[in-house]
Amino acid sequence: MSDAIIAQKSPYMTELAVGRDYFWCSCGKSSKQPLCDGSHKGSEFTPVKFQVDAAKAYALCGCKNNDGKPFCNGAHKNL
Ligand code: FES
Repeated sequence: MSDAIIAQKSPYMTELAVGRDYFWCSCGKSSKQPLCDGSHKGSEFTPVKFQVDAAKAYALCGCKNNDGKPFCNGAHKNL
């Protein structure tokens, strides 16, 4: 698998709602970061579907180096 593009070396604080399906961009190409806009088409990347349990702002991964998971784990600090 080729490396994803680093959209930014910090998380995107994003307000999310309960009961919705979200699709986190894993490829780094989306112009609607941190969520997928379909720009991955033709690559080996696919968006990651997720939901949240509480309506609030979440730190979503912007560096795309969090093992394909949508929530920031601080991996950007090592880039
Ligand atoms: S645009 Fe990046 S996964 Fe869809």
